[in-house]
Amino acid sequence: YHIAVPANEPVLSYAPNSPERKSLQAALHAAKSHVAELPAYIDGKAVFAGQEKVSVHPPHEIAHTLGHFYRGTAGQVHEAIAAALRAKASWAATPWQERAAVFLRAADLLAGPFRARMNAATMLGQSKNAYQAEIDAVAELCDFFRFNAYFLQEIYREQPLHSPSPTWNKLEYRPLEGFVLAITPFNFTSIAANLPAAPALCGNTVVWKPAETQIYSAVVIMELFAAAGLPPGVINLIYTDGPVVGDIVFKHRDFAGLHFTGSTGVFRHLWKEIGANIEKYRSYPRIVGETGGKDFIIAHPDADAEQVAVACLRGAFEYQGQKCSAASRAYLPASLWPTIRERLLADLATLKMGTVEDFSNFINAVIDERAFDKIAAYIDGEKGKAGREIIAGGGHDKSKGYFIEPTVILTEDPHSTTMEEEIFGPVLTVYVYPDADWEKALELVDTTSPYALTGAVFATDRNVIDQATRALANAAGNFYVNDKPTGAVVGQQPFGGARGSGTNDKAGSALNLTRWISPRLIKENF
Ligand code: NAD
Ligand code: ALA
Repeated sequence: YHIAVPANEPVLSYAPNSPERKSLQAALHAAKSHVAELPAYIDGKAVFAGQEKVSVHPPHEIAHTLGHFYRGTAGQVHEAIAAALRAKASWAATPWQERAAVFLRAADLLAGPFRARMNAATMLGQSKNAYQAEIDAVAELCDFFRFNAYFLQEIYREQPLHSPSPTWNKLEYRPLEGFVLAITPFNFTSIAANLPAAPALCGNTVVWKPAETQIYSAVVIMELFAAAGLPPGVINLIYTDGPVVGDIVFKHRDFAGLHFTGSTGVFRHLWKEIGANIEKYRSYPRIVGETGGKDFIIAHPDADAEQVAVACLRGAFEYQGQKCSAASRAYLPASLWPTIRERLLADLATLKMGTVEDFSNFINAVIDERAFDKIAAYIDGEKGKAGREIIAGGGHDKSKGYFIEPTVILTEDPHSTTMEEEIFGPVLTVYVYPDADWEKALELVDTTSPYALTGAVFATDRNVIDQATRALANAAGNFYVNDKPTGAVVGQQPFGGARGSGTNDKAGSALNLTRWISPRLIKENF
């Protein structure tokens, strides 16, 4: 049994009249033609029960109901933990090749019969256009499944130990003792699926609590796992409120690890709770978290201005800026600014905003009313302030869906609120620095934000690139030279940040998988 180095799943174009566009349109139509009942899954069984029936709406069309789910009680958490613990012994004893085969099958099913449905669920539930859904819910998720299976093989193969005769030293790679909790964000279907899947691949069993705004595609993920042959109880999906889940899981003796992606504030809160309960656990829980960002673009005066403008547009506004990696602060030299500004504004003027069902729309609604209100408040807070100019967008309207125009704010203050705080929406703030202040601009990039997720430098001179790479050594876990700071590809750019952006255990790499493995060393004399 050998898993060859995988190829990245090709991204389909969804051109008009293409077969993939037709099947996606059919899947969108099917999803909109009925109101789905969205179950939790415990021990492989669909659970339609809970304390409160909650409606799910597409963020672009809030009058339409896509489905209902039932918010779970504390009892649901206890049942999910019990199911995970029951499933553990047999799954942990399953040879790693069989575990890998389940996820490789899941990738093939996703690339084939599940493709249109998964994309449609991500488009309608999370308000992604077809291209953004395809690169996330299909391509990146297939890549997570295939590359992680390959990386696991490489980890198991490695026996770096010296065994002088008559001893035999061996590392046995085992899952953690207990169960893992996955808490996942709304913004990437692939991340939401990978957070329970990566520990499960390593032989762990998992309780998975998704964001309520991602539940619509979470159900398709569970159906995909079942179709791929994942045994009942290995991944249990529950819809209980985060604090209720935490209150039970973080006091449980068998809590073995947290795989989290979401905001920095929530992660810090969870870490404190785990710390406060540390004496209750059998083992020190593994804590892996990828969190917020305030991602930057900085251009040197010798950069290609057109390239910078395109990176600002795509980096800041794809998926309405709701990527942890999205560019949200730009430091641009005065000599290039007029050209960058002209190209950026011209390109922005061509972008259409509207529903995901019209494939020509680049900008769609933001995820929910809470996000809409928060982003709109940041934009309105800058209106009319001295030293600020809104040079594009600034408008917002939630009467039919949560629509916010892509907004560019020009600021004279490199420490203004929108240069410093994570907004998580379609807002780019630009600070124009005098060309002679390049080194000061590098320092601003490094010191302005508590985050260190992604960032991009644009320059042509090799010495300048090297200077920026050194000066920003700790400013971004994913650092891009002459490219936008979004769009990491599994197997090519493992993803994760440091400082306030996470534990930097690089999703989509062997480094992440080793966090879900507890090796035993066996020495045998013979
Ligand atoms: P969020 O922090 O609001 O929610 C994340 C998850 O935590 C959700 O499932 C939520 O229900 C849960 N949660 C919230 N409070 C909880 C509590 N007290 N106890 C237990 N669970 C709780 O984040 P979001 O809005 O879903 O996602 C956006 C955030 O995620 C942004 O900050 C973004 O930067 C970050 N993000 C980071 C990465 C990365 O790789 N670094 C990737 C995607 C998103
Ligand atoms: N992996 C995603 C990106 O790089 C978050 O944009």
